[in-house]
Amino acid sequence: MSETVKTNRIRVLDLEFEPFLSKEQISSTVDKLGKQITQDYLGKKPIFIAILNGSYVFMADLLRACKLECEMTFVKLSSYQGLESSGVVATQIGLSLDIRGRDIIIVEDIIDTGTTIHHFLQQIKKFEPASVKLATLLFKPKALQHPLKIDYTGFEIPNRFVVGYGLDYNEAGRNLPAIYQLVSE
Ligand code: IMP
Ligand code: MG
Repeated sequence: MSETVKTNRIRVLDLEFEPFLSKEQISSTVDKLGKQITQDYLGKKPIFIAILNGSYVFMADLLRACKLECEMTFVKLSSYQGLESSGVVATQIGLSLDIRGRDIIIVEDIIDTGTTIHHFLQQIKKFEPASVKLATLLFKPKALQHPLKIDYTGFEIPNRFVVGYGLDYNEAGRNLPAIYQLVSE
């Protein structure tokens, strides 16, 4: 690999990452998703539920791209340790809004094994919302282990670890404005 490409690499904690999705690519995709959601929910007042921590940046940009009357809330779930999903989902902050009879859009930064979202879908169905749709910025189809219908997908990506735009590696890298992929060498 040439020196010029290598100089764009960044270090997050002990690992090296290379540019993967630019700020511009992310912003134009988020705008498109916002327009699509705006069309689909005309005349409705959905509640967006983002899954913390990773989704906070995507949620902020997506909601400003949706020209709709809407509400929002957050839950905090976690399943990841380091570079891999632990397979066990812990709820650290639960649902604080009454969602019975409401249209729900769940906002995820990334769907990897699908364990987190599968678990959360089962939880919220108990509260009898009118409808539930799923929006994710990133989707790794090769990692998926649960049957899931994703309604809004930003990018389908290879099964490689990524950081930035809210996504972390052991809590580092969330504030990077673009998305970087782990260098595999
Ligand atoms: P899942 O339960 O395996 O689908 O994983 C979902 C959660 O794991 C996401 O909300 C992220 O917080 C985290 N995650 C999955 N893949 C990555 C990655 O490539 N980079 C950083 N976090 C990830
Ligand atoms: Mg994470």
